[in-house]
Amino acid sequence: MVVLIDKTDDQPIRRICSRHENRPDTLLEILHDVQHTQGFIGDGALRTIADALNISRAEIHGVISFYHDYRREAPARHVVKICRAEACQAVGSEALAAYAEAKYGCVTGGKSPDGQIGLKAVYCLGNCALGPAVMIDDELYGRVTPERLDGLTAARLMKPGPS
Ligand code: FES
Repeated sequence: MVVLIDKTDDQPIRRICSRHENRPDTLLEILHDVQHTQGFIGDGALRTIADALNISRAEIHGVISFYHDYRREAPARHVVKICRAEACQAVGSEALAAYAEAKYGCVTGGKSPDGQIGLKAVYCLGNCALGPAVMIDDELYGRVTPERLDGLTAARLMKPGPS
């Protein structure tokens, strides 16, 4: 099978590979640099890296799958982490998480169809006395109700996303 590579769009990835002398033993560093500059390692990047390093895409995919910090999809613009640990569960975090899933149209661990909100479960944010605790991007909130979550995320969506 012939795989066509768009030579105009892959230059940033090729420059990264080139900085590492196109050496397969620097694959982890290359993947790190690609994710740092692009936010994730997409199919196009994967093809370009495979071509530059003369290794198979399956080999790269295996490495990406092994290390969970690598992302294959663009991250959500904002990340909402809802604490699901015991103290927060006791004051409604499960219901809050169910509300957030319905509101944003995604399951926990996924992102809204428009890519604006990602939902994650966390197990203690160190804010146990003020549950349900929620972290939106890097800001921590306590006693979050569904109504408050709506207000907090609406305010976030008015701001630029984290880089
Ligand atoms: S249990 Fe939720 S912040 Fe600690």
